[in-house]
Formats: sequence, structure tokens, C-alpha cells
Amino acid sequence: MTISTFDHDVLVVGAGLSGLRVAIELSEKFDVAIVTKVHPLRSHSVSAQGGINASLGEDDSWEAHAFDTVKGSDYLADQDVVEILAKEAPRAVIENECWGTAFSRTDDGKIAQRPFGGAAFPRTCYAADRTGHNLLHTTFEQTLRKGIKFYNEWYVTSLVKSKNRICGLTALEIATGEVHGFTAKAVVLATGGFGRVYGHSTNALINTGDGCALALRVGAPLKDMEFVQFHPTCLFGSSILITEGARGEGGYLVNANGERFMDKYAPEKMELAPRDIVARAIRTEVLEGRGFENEYVHLDLRHLRKEKILERLPGIREICINFAGVDPIDEPIPVQPAQHYSMGGVHTDCFGVTPVKGLFAVGETSCMSVHGANRLGGNSLLETLVFGRIVGKKAGEYTESVEQPDSSYVGQQTFEMRERLQKLLLHEGGNSPVDIRETMGQTMDVLVGVYRKSDALEAALKMIRELKKRFENVSVGRSDEKFNYALVRTLELENMLELAEVITMGALMRRESRGAHWRLDYPERDDTNFLKHSLFTKVEDYIRTELIDVNLGKFEVKERTY
Ligand code: FUM
Repeated sequence: MTISTFDHDVLVVGAGLSGLRVAIELSEKFDVAIVTKVHPLRSHSVSAQGGINASLGEDDSWEAHAFDTVKGSDYLADQDVVEILAKEAPRAVIENECWGTAFSRTDDGKIAQRPFGGAAFPRTCYAADRTGHNLLHTTFEQTLRKGIKFYNEWYVTSLVKSKNRICGLTALEIATGEVHGFTAKAVVLATGGFGRVYGHSTNALINTGDGCALALRVGAPLKDMEFVQFHPTCLFGSSILITEGARGEGGYLVNANGERFMDKYAPEKMELAPRDIVARAIRTEVLEGRGFENEYVHLDLRHLRKEKILERLPGIREICINFAGVDPIDEPIPVQPAQHYSMGGVHTDCFGVTPVKGLFAVGETSCMSVHGANRLGGNSLLETLVFGRIVGKKAGEYTESVEQPDSSYVGQQTFEMRERLQKLLLHEGGNSPVDIRETMGQTMDVLVGVYRKSDALEAALKMIRELKKRFENVSVGRSDEKFNYALVRTLELENMLELAEVITMGALMRRESRGAHWRLDYPERDDTNFLKHSLFTKVEDYIRTELIDVNLGKFEVKERTY
């Protein structure tokens, strides 16, 4: 049977900042299309609050930015990649300013910069507390100007590989329920992180790690998956992000005894220590009985006063009022750590090239590794724009060097995917995806969280594997074809279960404490055995784990204190 496919030179999966920036770069010369499961302006980049780093200040330098990033990473970042990030940062910020991003300003008209965790200078450029919203809108405008083709609300169900190279993908058109094939010379994965593997996360519900799972299934390794960032200040109850910018503007963390406790954990940097340290400090305060209701601490902004809060943190005030009934002008904000960012991802070099020919990854989906064991706030938006441009260029070079693949294999796989989804939709009386998802989230929150230890991790791995078994007999619960979001959620769950297993395997294997990965049973950093990246490759039905070297550079590996 012949199934016709949509043909393009390059396909970008995901329409957050990374995906859009890649597509802009490619659009000059190539027929590029973006396949995205949500409208681009609903991508998670829109919720980035506090800002984007660039060494614009007179006393600042790219070297200082690079050093802070490497130290923040607990020396696991590849220093050659960090150098690119820091050197290219000013250009990326100015480019977006020229496109129209309304950055906040100093009195003399310069782009305003606020202090952020682990940084030696106020280096974080911001648009009040809606930086991602601003950047995403201006970048999206550029894609419209360039006439880039979008497949909005199409969910990618598989990558197609033939003769050892990627030749396209299959995707579900959510509105109709039809599965289509796409043929292309190259595919760039830009689907964001996998935060929703956890129950408590600042991430949008769409952040289900689809790109990582797709890559894993076609033999592309994942890297450093055990390094999951827990943002210290998330609103108690809903886990909505309360930006680090609130501490950058001078907010205090206070325990139930009224103490500004960060002096015990990071006497120099206090609330502006890197996130891993602040998150552990908050957990420790609560575990040792100095939290409120045994759950949270306070983030106190009252001394900043009304004018500053209204000017710099208006979105935070709105969130606190709407979701916690607390006005930070008058009351402290109840906060606790929650999952926020995935340092790990698809293993790539600094050009986004994966070991699978024709497959690229960028942004939070990728692990280049620019953040190592702990990302600094403000480096994530930066990564999307800097490496979006670079990966776009590289994918273009590759595209020029190869022939358009034969679409027949894509057609065949499209046919098989249609059959698979039909069967899934018609299967009744099986396990509920909602139950599986809830158990997965709770398991990861409780057993693979800020503090980890071997017995808990082993229990988590057992549970995740049990959930994978239950998934084999899952029922979507709705068989209609149009806008069947129950089906999308089920396919996302399948992806997340794969990733939960890999995260937990990595956390068990890494018998040391480094950056965001803290083992109570191995509380020291172990450079002799673990100054290494972890790599996870799917080989038939099992995951092969190995360790590979970190690219060290001019910044000597040292003890990390703040
Ligand atoms: O706290 C924040 O505003 C988050 C910033 C980031 O993750 O880079």
C-alpha cells in the first residue's frame, strides 16, 4: 500500500524558543517545517520568568560568565560548550532586542540586569518577570515574517530511520485523529524537558520528554539523565515557579523560627547561591523541623516595598494572589522546592549532532553538556537562542550534503503506526493511564527527589518497571478520533515511563553527590570515579549504561563553596 507523505528538507519538532530559533536559521535556504503538539505561543518557554544571562556589564566578561557556569555545574559541564554559550550571549540578547523584546531598562536606558544565583555579577537581563513570554513572542514574529510552515497541534509518534539515517517521522494530527508521515533529510528535536515525570514540577503539563523518548527508541543515547534540577522556590500547593528574580531583587528565605537560614549553607551568597544548594537548604530546614507545617519555608519580599514589587515582579504578585491567596506586598510567600529543569537529555556535541545520522537535538531536549550537574538560572533561555542558531546552521550543512530520502519506508511506518493507535484506542478494560501517571509522579517525587539513597532508588526502579508492565495493558478510555487528548496523554505517559526508568538507573549508578544529584549514602563528590558523563543507550529491550569523559578546560576542578 502506498501512503503519501509530507515532504520537507528539515523538520523541527517543538516550537519553543529553541525550535523557533533553529527554524529561523534554516529558513534562509531550506524548506523547513515545525511540527508541534501545542500552538507555538503555548510552548513552555512562555513561562520563563526571571531572565537571560549575558555579560553586558562593564566589569563583567564572558570568562566570568563561563567560570560561574562551570563552577555552578559542579565541574561536570563541558568547558568548550560553556565557552560558546558565554561568548555568544551578548549577541543573542541584542539580536532579540532588535527583534523587539521589551527588556526592562536602567535609568540611563541600558538593558537592566539583576543578580541571579551563583553569578559574580548582575548578569541576568529581564523583562520584568515575564522574560520568556517576551522572547517567545518576538521570536515567533520572526518565524511568521519568514513564512515558516507550522503543523500546530500535531503529536510526533515516531522517528523513522532507514539505512542507518533518519528519514522522517510519523505524527498524529490531533484535530482529526489521522496519522501522517513526513519525509525529510534531517530532524531537529526541540521538545523541551521532561519535568512532568515528577508529580511536583514547575513545568507545563506538556513537558513530557517526548523528544528524549523518540531519540532513545531510534538508538540515540541519552546523557546525564540523573541530573534533575529542583527549583528552590515554588509556590506551596501548586508548585508554580516563583522566580529566582525575587531573590535577585533582595527577597529573604526565612524558616518557622524566623531565621534567615541561608547563612548556614552559603554564607557569602546567601539566597543567591546556586539552586541545588538553596533547594537542599530548604529541604534540610523542613526535614529538621524548622519548616512551616512540616512542608515549606517563607520567601519574604515585604521589605522590597510595593513600588519595586509592582515594577519588577508584577507576575509573581498576581500568581501569589490568584493561587495562594497571598499578596507578597503584605505577607511572605510559602515556598518549597519542585522539579524545574532537566540537565540531561539527548547526547549531542556542541552543534546538536547526535550519533544517529540526520538527527539533531537542541535546548532542554539536548545534553551538550552546557549545564553539567546543575544549571545556573538565566542560562536556559540563553541556551535556546545561542544553540538554536548554531544547531540550525549545522543541520543546514548536513541537509545540503545528503539526498532527499525515499519516502516509502516512512509510508510503511505510517501504516504501522495507524494500526498500532487503532488497536490502542479499541482496547477496553485495561489499566488507567491516569492512575499509572499519578503513581509515577509520586514515586519520582518521594524516591528520586532532592535527597536520594540506594534503597529508595531501588524501590523506585522496581515501581517504575511495574508501571511499565501495567502500561502494556493500558486503556485510553476514549475511542473517538477527533481531539482525543486522552490518547495523547497516554502516548506521553509511555514516553515518561521510559525516561523515569533511565533517570532512576542513572541516580542509582552515580554513587556520589554532585550538583543537583545528592546521595545521602554517598555525600561526597567523587572525581576519581564520577567526573564523567553518564550515557544510556537502548539496545533491544534493555538500557546500556556507560560513563564517558567530561571536556575539561582552563577552569581547574575545585571544591565548590559559596
Ligand atoms: O527562577 C527563574 O526565573 C527561572 C529561571 C531559569 O530557570 O533560568
